[in-house]
Amino acid sequence: MKLDWSALPKPIIALSPMADMTDSAFCRIVKETGESWVVFREMVSSEAVMRGNDKTLGMTDIHPEERPLIQQIFGSDPATMAEAARVIAQRHAPEGFDVNMGCPVYKIVHNFNGAALMKEPELAAKIVRAMKSVISVPLSIKIRLGWSDPAECIEFSKVLEAAGADLITIHGRTKTQGYAGIADWTAIRRAKEAVSIPVLCNGDVHRAELVQEALAVSGCDGILVARGALGNPWIFAQIDDVLAGRPPRVVSMEERVATVKRHLDLHVAQYGERGVVTFRKHLSWYFKGIPGAKRFRDALHTASSRVQLNQLLDALVATMGNGAPRSPSTGAK
Ligand SMILES: Cc1cc2nc3c(=O)[nH]c(=O)nc-3n(C[C@H](O)[C@H](O)[C@H](O)COP(=O)(O)O)c2cc1C
Repeated sequence: MKLDWSALPKPIIALSPMADMTDSAFCRIVKETGESWVVFREMVSSEAVMRGNDKTLGMTDIHPEERPLIQQIFGSDPATMAEAARVIAQRHAPEGFDVNMGCPVYKIVHNFNGAALMKEPELAAKIVRAMKSVISVPLSIKIRLGWSDPAECIEFSKVLEAAGADLITIHGRTKTQGYAGIADWTAIRRAKEAVSIPVLCNGDVHRAELVQEALAVSGCDGILVARGALGNPWIFAQIDDVLAGRPPRVVSMEERVATVKRHLDLHVAQYGERGVVTFRKHLSWYFKGIPGAKRFRDALHTASSRVQLNQLLDALVATMGNGAPRSPSTGAK
């Protein structure tokens, strides 16, 4: 299908890219449980793509159920970024590409990648132009408010728009803030008002009920939800409820565990039996803040086979029945 950010019905509600989290298995779960229009896949290194790194190339596989899907890439060399996008487009044809210009982690920024590009607007523009010249799908850019000054995103967004970006997502914190403090949706609004392309608001929309406030304050065309979807892929269906004037749906323990089992199956299909261990990060989110689930946590986190984990999950449902709904929680990794 062809994706046109400007023509999509508003508000646009989508899954934000998260390294080690928004892989193919999780994107499928989101599509199965919610009605998210678009999912953003975790970032891949443009250099690793160009080296033909099998693991990286595998991360760009797309199951048809995940579409429309945006593949995020990071890097700082315009030619390498363009060539990596061309390679991925040829292999998997994602419906769009996104460039990470917001990651604050040292191993990314020290090489002029991620948020460091906000200090190099000319280089950022070159990357946009180079990628746009080789891809035939939309290009979006994910940024922060700035490196240290929250007003930097205003001029930076104009530069990206002039270079040809089709959409910008702004995480309402600066790089120096990392994940501290509260996302500033008002600061996002200043950049939104400075450009004509669609802008998505990101940061701290961890419960469906916050969507309307985030949209009203930021004036944005939509929301990218990250941590709010971890352990709660139903957030997109809950957002639909809220936008339709209904209370957000409540997820029963049976439904929660059925989804966890399905996610586990998809995760193990993607990573092999060792996936039982790497799935623990998702288990933590699925049962965070659920009264009564705490006493199962240690056992769930030591299970070493899918059979064992499924038995424990069955025991959890049998003990807790249609337990209390989860109170949505937050917190960076
Ligand atoms: C575990 C984790 C991994 C992340 N990985 C990425 C990534 O690969 N690319 C990216 O642009 N942002 C990444 N982010 C940032 C999120 O997409 C998002 O901008 C941030 O968490 C704020 O949104 P939230 O408050 O809805 O979580 C990551 C965040 C987390 C918690």
